[in-house]
Amino acid sequence: MTDSLLVQLEERSYPIYFESIQSLLKKEVDQLEKENKTRFLVTDENLKATHSGYIKAMGFEESEIFVVPAGERSKSISVYKDLLSFLASNAANRDSVLFAFGGGVIGDLAGFAAASYLRGIHFYQIPTSLLAMVDSSVGGKTGINLPEGKNLVGAFWQPKAVFIDQALLETLPDNEFASGLAEVIKYGLISDKALFEQLAKIGEIKKDSKNLIDIIRRCCSIKAEVVSKDEQETASKDGRALLNLGHTFGHAIENVAGYGSYLHGEAISIGFYIASLLSENLNASFSSKDTAEVKKLLEQNGLPTSLKSPLSVELLNKAITRDKKNRASGIRYIIMKAIGDARTLEGVEPNLINDLWLKVGASEESH
Ligand SMILES: NC(=O)c1ccc[n+]([C@@H]2O[C@H](COP(=O)([O-])OP(=O)(O)OC[C@H]3O[C@@H](n4cnc5c(N)ncnc54)[C@H](O)[C@@H]3O)[C@@H](O)[C@H]2O)c1
Repeated sequence: MTDSLLVQLEERSYPIYFESIQSLLKKEVDQLEKENKTRFLVTDENLKATHSGYIKAMGFEESEIFVVPAGERSKSISVYKDLLSFLASNAANRDSVLFAFGGGVIGDLAGFAAASYLRGIHFYQIPTSLLAMVDSSVGGKTGINLPEGKNLVGAFWQPKAVFIDQALLETLPDNEFASGLAEVIKYGLISDKALFEQLAKIGEIKKDSKNLIDIIRRCCSIKAEVVSKDEQETASKDGRALLNLGHTFGHAIENVAGYGSYLHGEAISIGFYIASLLSENLNASFSSKDTAEVKKLLEQNGLPTSLKSPLSVELLNKAITRDKKNRASGIRYIIMKAIGDARTLEGVEPNLINDLWLKVGASEESH
């Protein structure tokens, strides 16, 4: 039997496959061909350069492939519009299927095009970055950015299946791999102490670490479970929001430093450290030893726990208040009662947050 797990969402349930990916994909494409359904694949320039053989082996011809520039700038209205035009000019219809072959940028962009083209067509995720494998390809959040902010337009649209092939990571740059590891560590912090301990025991996790695929699988199963209980993040507490541990701080850092100054994983890594300090402050059960363990694991994996250069506390706090995850009731933080046990929390004293920013190298001077 193929190694897979199921994301349970009633009629929108779907499998995540972890082995024999290339032959499964070829089978899927052949089946579409038999049923006379057209298929298209979205990827970026980097992957087109490193994996054109892989894409060809799945059964795609050049005319079926839409290639976008690599990086966040492709999650834009203009690239989205070009992708819709590509589908329309190739007469894609309601039976057509879109394949997203790339990192989180490609999955979010292609997923949103699939969600909106002809009011929704099927799509498949083939994540190629570690971040996309453990996080963005699972759960159905799709979307693009506006000049005013990240991910401001989008839809919940679940893929029909996710195909995870560890071998694709070989060409992933090391800093992008480390950025994905931040999300891996997050799962340990929010809900799986054993996973955190396993990671701490390994220390520096490498692309060819022999248990990496099991670790990826474990992360996907945590995400699948969280998503199946709170698909659209509407739970009044905890639920899918727990996946945002450290992200409120991380997003503020990305925003104030200027997008691109920090990789997403680097910014949220600092966010995890701040979340640990916050947990220590608000919870007798989370100790300074826990914070030190979190810091050590992040640093062992090349992830930062302090700012590269000072950013203004005032601007960071302003960015927090603009975070799209805020609710009418106020800013929602995620704290840990213990490693592996997280909670949402509102009503945190702003002064406490100021102190924590200073601890990671922010400055009281306004810039
Ligand atoms: N939808 C969600 O639930 C969700 C969750 C987390 C993050 N995201 C989004 O994901 C995006 C970040 O994803 P990302 O870090 O994968 O970024 P990305 O897609 O830009 O990929 C990072 C870089 O790595 C390259 N790359 C990817 N796989 C490669 C491979 N196998 N070999 C060589 N190069 C490779 C890409 O070309 C790119 O330059 C952000 O836009 C973020 O908002 C979405």
